[in-house]
Amino acid sequence: MSELLFKNARIIDPARNIDQIGDIAVADGVIVDPGKLNSPEVIDLTGKILSPGFIDVHVHLRQPGNTTAETIASGSAAAAAGGFTSIVAMPNTSPSADTAGAIEYLRRIAAEQAVVKVLPCGNMTKGGKGEEMAGIGSLKSAGVVALSDDGKCIQDHGLMRHVVEYAKSFELPILDHCEESTLASGGVMNEGKWSVLLGMHGIPGAAEELIIARNIIFARQINWRIHMQHVSTRDSVDMIRRARAKGIPVTGEATPHHLSLTDENVKKFDTNYKMNPPLRTEDDRQALIEGIVDGTITVIATDHAPHTETAKLVEFDHAPFGIIGLETALPVCFTQLVASGVITVDKLIPKLTTGPAEVLGIKNYSLAEGNAADITVFDPQAEYVIDKSKFRSKSRNTPFDGMTVRGKINLTVVDGKIVYREGC
Ligand code: DOR
Ligand code: ZN
Repeated sequence: MSELLFKNARIIDPARNIDQIGDIAVADGVIVDPGKLNSPEVIDLTGKILSPGFIDVHVHLRQPGNTTAETIASGSAAAAAGGFTSIVAMPNTSPSADTAGAIEYLRRIAAEQAVVKVLPCGNMTKGGKGEEMAGIGSLKSAGVVALSDDGKCIQDHGLMRHVVEYAKSFELPILDHCEESTLASGGVMNEGKWSVLLGMHGIPGAAEELIIARNIIFARQINWRIHMQHVSTRDSVDMIRRARAKGIPVTGEATPHHLSLTDENVKKFDTNYKMNPPLRTEDDRQALIEGIVDGTITVIATDHAPHTETAKLVEFDHAPFGIIGLETALPVCFTQLVASGVITVDKLIPKLTTGPAEVLGIKNYSLAEGNAADITVFDPQAEYVIDKSKFRSKSRNTPFDGMTVRGKINLTVVDGKIVYREGC
């Protein structure tokens, strides 16, 4: 296998508390001592930042079921272009990823066609319907790394408690889409001033907060890890902060869109601002940023949710929820959080690397010698305009097209192999 020598990069390796200019060497798919290389390809990374590969714990690949919107191949190529070396594939495909066979199918296609590591997530319940527990033991044997009914939420608290108990015995983290359905039912955007002005049916923050409260109770009583997906309100952040302060094993993720947009954007009636949970208020957005800053929110995840142009080109009320995010995550977060001076870049990298690794129970996720050479390189100075026509994803449903951003992915390396390269 080829050897690579990355020179003069600013290396940010959060797990080892490293932030320094230096070199990183790769041979046979792993990180090695630069002195051990024979005739490497040398890549000069002066002015660029090199970190462990980004991990996205929340990606919809749509295969099987809706391969006009995305496939395992196209979604993984989009991930590579976004600097992600590992992605967790949500199970709300068709059929659902609720059996060992479905997981074997995903793993087989990924092994043949994916350019990044595709980590399967299995359903908590059969068909993600929230009625009957899935065969969690056989999902574990088939290789799932987590459990989720994302897109939906188990409403039956007795069933959820059982699922958490099973998840604990099989050592699988739960990634929960927190949404109480009687409150959310029929809603298409955040319930608040803008839903009243626009005459649209709202989804109150309480729909999310009730389930987060429930999950915190179960995480404490059962002492097992529950990760709250796409956290969107101030009260959710507050509850997670208090729970973590008490040592309850809960974590939370924020999406680039909830960190950068608000429900006011919906006044454009553009369905690329429709997602679930919905964009909330400026106060909620500020609370998410506070959570990022103080460590309450340890993960940034995209909720990459491809939908075809035809599906999205309908009235706001009728459009499906979701936007793509893999290829815009780093520039949107860098621009919103780092270039704007809210946090320094060394505080952003952990949300894309060690934070998600910890959710999945991956230990020592770092650039230490001997570890898999999963590496991301980006240019913190590069300024450009997001152009959705250049995306690797098969879908184009993004609200960020045309936005001027800073921070450009230059290199994505998976097991020592360059899977994306642009501008270096
Ligand atoms: O906006 C969303 N889209 N939220 C979800 O929970 C599911 C996702 C999808 O699958 O399209
Ligand atoms: Zn969700």
